[in-house]
Amino acid sequence: MGTNPSQNHHLQVTQFSLPKKQFVAYGLYALIPLALLHYLLFYPLATAKPPVQLPQLQEDAPAFVPSQHGHAPVNADEQLPPPSPHRQDEVLGNSPAGEAVSASPPCDYADGEWVPDARPPLYNGTSCGTIKDGQNCMAHGRPDTGYLYWRWRPQRCDLPAFSPAAFLRWLRNRHLAFVGDSLARNQGESLLCLLSSHSTPELVYRDGEENKFRRWVFHEYNATVSIFWSPLLVKVVEKAEHAGVRHNNVFLDAFDERWMSQLGALDAAVLSVGHWFLIPGIYHDAGNVVGCHDCAGLNHTETDFFGVFKEAVHRTLAEVTRRQVADTSKKKKVIAFTTFSPAHFQGDWDKTGACPEKRPYKEKEVGYTETAMRKTVVDAVAAANADADAGGLRFAALDVTKLANLRPDGHPGPYMRNDPFAGGGEDARVQNDCVHWCMPGPIDTFNEILLQTVVG
Ligand SMILES: *[C@@H]1O[C@H](CO)[C@@H](O)[C@H](O)[C@H]1NC(C)=O
Ligand SMILES: *[C@@H]1O[C@H](CO)[C@@H](O)[C@H](O)[C@H]1NC(C)=O
Ligand SMILES: *[C@@H]1O[C@H](CO)[C@@H](O)[C@H](O)[C@H]1NC(C)=O
Repeated sequence: MGTNPSQNHHLQVTQFSLPKKQFVAYGLYALIPLALLHYLLFYPLATAKPPVQLPQLQEDAPAFVPSQHGHAPVNADEQLPPPSPHRQDEVLGNSPAGEAVSASPPCDYADGEWVPDARPPLYNGTSCGTIKDGQNCMAHGRPDTGYLYWRWRPQRCDLPAFSPAAFLRWLRNRHLAFVGDSLARNQGESLLCLLSSHSTPELVYRDGEENKFRRWVFHEYNATVSIFWSPLLVKVVEKAEHAGVRHNNVFLDAFDERWMSQLGALDAAVLSVGHWFLIPGIYHDAGNVVGCHDCAGLNHTETDFFGVFKEAVHRTLAEVTRRQVADTSKKKKVIAFTTFSPAHFQGDWDKTGACPEKRPYKEKEVGYTETAMRKTVVDAVAAANADADAGGLRFAALDVTKLANLRPDGHPGPYMRNDPFAGGGEDARVQNDCVHWCMPGPIDTFNEILLQTVVG
């Protein structure tokens, strides 16, 4: 970002004029996956009602024919053998030697490379019951398994393998919440599967209708994990295609109390949003419409999503701090914010081979949109931390954009559905998910970094 920001102080919404080339880059990004994003992000749950019809967003985007899927089972009652002891010991990094060199800067996990790793994942498509149907690539018949055998190697330090025991020891008597869109849920379910390989959680709460709010307890540890649906972090009245409402109505000056009101009970939260800012939205502040994204046909000022994303992120972190300062219990908290997770469409989302890669990229430049979205989070986290005595709060960026950008092979693609080529062979028209992540898969690495972040 940083390209001619001009602040409108009255409305407090930053707008940007993008140089032509960058605008084209962002435009293409928005165009190719938009039809799919609509579907994937708005109907993220297997039980959600599909739209009757999607708007034609580009000439060659055919009407979407959703399929019906059942629930994934909710119990994770099968276990993998516990990991070998050395994996657990290396995790906490609090050896005496480690403390003696406390002057060395903390590890930067953001930059590195994927290297082959023969160790199998801690769970699989049948051993964990909390994998959303659309991300259960193994169970849906994805034939290749090479994408499972890689680990992230940061440039100047080591990222220890995930240790469920170490994570649960940290989580003892604590409550960790994942808050955000369907990628927050993807990451939350990855953590549940990783932890389930060591201890069996009980699902103690689920939102009756759409599973948007769930809570599990690992009784052995009195450890709680929950998932909150909040796709823009601030208050939103979600669009309803079936009722002809094409736009989200987003209220930048109101918070989403469905999770915000629970802050006092939390010891840690992982926030993860971004993709919902790319779909059509009308943005409100102080009773006025301050901008509209993708609003042809409406009499509103068109805005890109970078400014409103930045506004929503900054305001949310400031509000978390304000509430912490006002909270007399001063319970310590870690607020981690997962940076933007890139999609990998190489072709039409409804044709074979939309994200066909079978291996990580060795190198791949992070796109303009992804770079800007990432930077917003990294900057907001730094600003929130600099905000003097926040009363026991610590913010951290879970900086996954680069490592995720290198994993075009980690998405479900056609295996978002069971046996996708059953009807017509490889030439069949088939919908692809190149946004979310297979489980197991690269998103497990997000939680390896989360472990280092919370214990650090
Ligand atoms: C998944 O894990 C379970 C439990 O460890 C094991 O019995 C099963 O064979 C595994 N399935 C696959 C496809 O690897
Ligand atoms: C169990 O964990 C919760 C946090 O989820 C905590 O408030 C409570 O005090 C813990 N119970 C005990 C007995 O420590
Ligand atoms: C659009 O908004 C402007 C400024 O508020 C107003 O002057 C104009 O009449 C509006 N046009 C339509 C078609 O509503």
